[in-house]
Amino acid sequence: MADHLINILAIESSCDDTAAAVLSNGKILSNIVATQEVHKQYGGVVPELASRAHQQNIVPVIHQALEMANIDKKDLSAIAFTRGPGLMGSLLVGTSFAKSLAMGLEIPLIEVNHMQAHILAHFIEEEGFDKPEFPFLAMTISGGHTQIVKVSDYFDMEVIGETLDDAVGEAFDKSAKILGLPYPGGPLIDKYAREGDPKAFQFTKPKVDDLNFSFSGFKTAVLYFIQKKTKEDPEFVEKNLKDICASIQYTIIGILMDKMKKAVKKTGIIQVAIGGGVSANSGIRQALVDAEKKWGWKCFIPKFEYTTDNAAMIGIAGYHKYLQKDFADFSVTAQSRYKI
Ligand code: KG4
Ligand code: ZN
Repeated sequence: MADHLINILAIESSCDDTAAAVLSNGKILSNIVATQEVHKQYGGVVPELASRAHQQNIVPVIHQALEMANIDKKDLSAIAFTRGPGLMGSLLVGTSFAKSLAMGLEIPLIEVNHMQAHILAHFIEEEGFDKPEFPFLAMTISGGHTQIVKVSDYFDMEVIGETLDDAVGEAFDKSAKILGLPYPGGPLIDKYAREGDPKAFQFTKPKVDDLNFSFSGFKTAVLYFIQKKTKEDPEFVEKNLKDICASIQYTIIGILMDKMKKAVKKTGIIQVAIGGGVSANSGIRQALVDAEKKWGWKCFIPKFEYTTDNAAMIGIAGYHKYLQKDFADFSVTAQSRYKI
């Protein structure tokens, strides 16, 4: 293999997806995700079960990623892995595996911050997708996080707003649970919302200072509304599911876009990117398309496969660290709370 090729194996295991990807000079050769189905029956991720499933999945997933990329272990230049944030037991599986493999192959180890990776996913080489220029604003919206980040360089990021309680993904998932939908309910709310009337029901938006968010009150508002309505008509949810979902989604997107408008005004930066699981939502994607037309923003919407947790984003972050020779010490440990 030619010397100039930088081949990186990336491993992601922060929550309930075991993922591996192989990149060559920043180009994705393979991107494998094993989503753990075991959590569905519990209505949320069970940490202990997630760790065990990672243990089970990690070797086959990495095998598949290497095989699909047609890259032999011997030709790897470095191993990148998610150090945090995430569930400790889950992170430990990927971290320990990455350390052992890098040690065995005698190649550098690269630690990656999962939230930075959600943002850096925009630098994956993809036809038809422009890359943002620095500085830009990024909104990371997932099951565990809701942040507005000012991105000045690949690894020079500043959180300028974040949630004070629940993440936006939780607002989707908990609302879905109230409606009797299975976990994770976010994609189902999105699906039903497409055919519903977003103005059918009104939910008040929380009042939070600056660029911060709060979603715990919203979830309670949905709960009280549904309890009241089902008392009047036990079939209320069944009869109005599409309209309820559309109204919930409309309110959540309104909350996100209000803050994003504020952030653009405050920073004067009009390049706006979204990342994280909730950026798969059709409503938020459309809202950004509209913002380009209405307000002249330049928006960056990730390819679907790079929205929810994946290892390609860990790989691209790892590639840029490799170029900067920013390698981790072998004493590195997983961090469940890991700031950007
Ligand atoms: O980034 P991610 O895969 O994992 C975390 O790091 O949390 O995000 C998962 C979250 C879940 O809350 C899921 O319901 C939400 O992303 N999600 C969606 C959609 N697809 C995934 N929420 C709304 N609409 C979607 N289409
Ligand atoms: Zn994530």
